[in-house]
Amino acid sequence: MLALRDSHGRILKDLRISITDRCNFRCLYCLPETEEAANFYRTRFDAQRNPNPSHGLPIQHEWKPRDQILRFEEIVRIARVAVGLGITKLRVTGGEPLLRQGVEQLVGQLAAIPGVEDLALTTNGFLFSRKAEALRQAGLQRVSFSMDSMNPENFKRMTGRDGHASVLEGIHLARTLGFRPVKVNAVVIRGINDHEVEDLAAFARQEDISLRFIEFMPLDSSRAWQLDHVVSGKVILERLQARFQLVAIDQSSNPSETARRWHFADGPGEIGIIAPVSQPFCGHCNRLRMTADGKIRTCLFSLHEHDLKPLLRNGASDDSLAERLQEIVLGKEAGHRIGQKDFVQPARTMSCIGG
Ligand code: 5AD
Ligand code: SF4
Repeated sequence: MLALRDSHGRILKDLRISITDRCNFRCLYCLPETEEAANFYRTRFDAQRNPNPSHGLPIQHEWKPRDQILRFEEIVRIARVAVGLGITKLRVTGGEPLLRQGVEQLVGQLAAIPGVEDLALTTNGFLFSRKAEALRQAGLQRVSFSMDSMNPENFKRMTGRDGHASVLEGIHLARTLGFRPVKVNAVVIRGINDHEVEDLAAFARQEDISLRFIEFMPLDSSRAWQLDHVVSGKVILERLQARFQLVAIDQSSNPSETARRWHFADGPGEIGIIAPVSQPFCGHCNRLRMTADGKIRTCLFSLHEHDLKPLLRNGASDDSLAERLQEIVLGKEAGHRIGQKDFVQPARTMSCIGG
């Protein structure tokens, strides 16, 4: 059986496909809209080094030109080749994937690939209600939302958009339409939304969803990340345990899962803690990523990307694409080096990589 095996013995099962680098939100940990937003958290810890930061200037993001973005048939072809190499799990991401026209058709084509056992999508939720039924019918099984705040004002401050009500509506609709589980990701940033972890967990219990708290990672476009901003998974857990009765979920059957999970002793829903900074899980990583412009990344923090477009657009066979993928995977790095002296933040932000 052909497999995507790296030089550290990990076998990759999970391909995350970004289908656009564009986004309709401007989350301050990802694509802050203005200098002011970027500095909103920078200045809290960096006032001396950065004495005059806030001019309210717009930050220009350069989107990839359309002809560099893979067409659906190209995406589906890579997915098919990867599934032939043992990938069983596909996740469609962005930027914001629902901005891509015809995303439901793409989902339908991905769902139809024999060997795809799990098909998921990550969205900021703002457009989800409009697309939800079509996505469900196309064969989407699971959806993860990003929602960092239960407070509409704070939500707006964090995402740059007045969208809390629309996202909540999307989450409810996902439950109603039978997506299971419905996950909600919250990036926790010290001094910005860490006072909300209990409210977010209460929401998970009330709505029977899986609320995942994610440590802030250095993948923001403004490069304002500092270790001081990170609230460790341990601290988040202690806070939640002080308020809720949590029961650890047995995860021994799925060692590649990034979240450590607990359910509530007295109600539905669960919480997960994703602690890539304080407790890296690279040793079990089974993920591979493809950007919207057809570049393979073997790690969120890779400094090199591998462009599949030349092969795709110059008539390469499926076999040579498969060989190329295997070769790329061999070079998957052992792990990230966040917090170490030699750490270099990758040029691309989460909005291009897709999470
Ligand atoms: N650190 C941690 N998580 C991030 N995300 C985006 N940027 C960052 C970051 N710098 C999360 C989003 C989304 C998922 C794809 O990645 O909240 O849920
Ligand atoms: Fe926020 Fe995701 Fe858009 Fe980045 S890509 S700005 S994390 S919604």
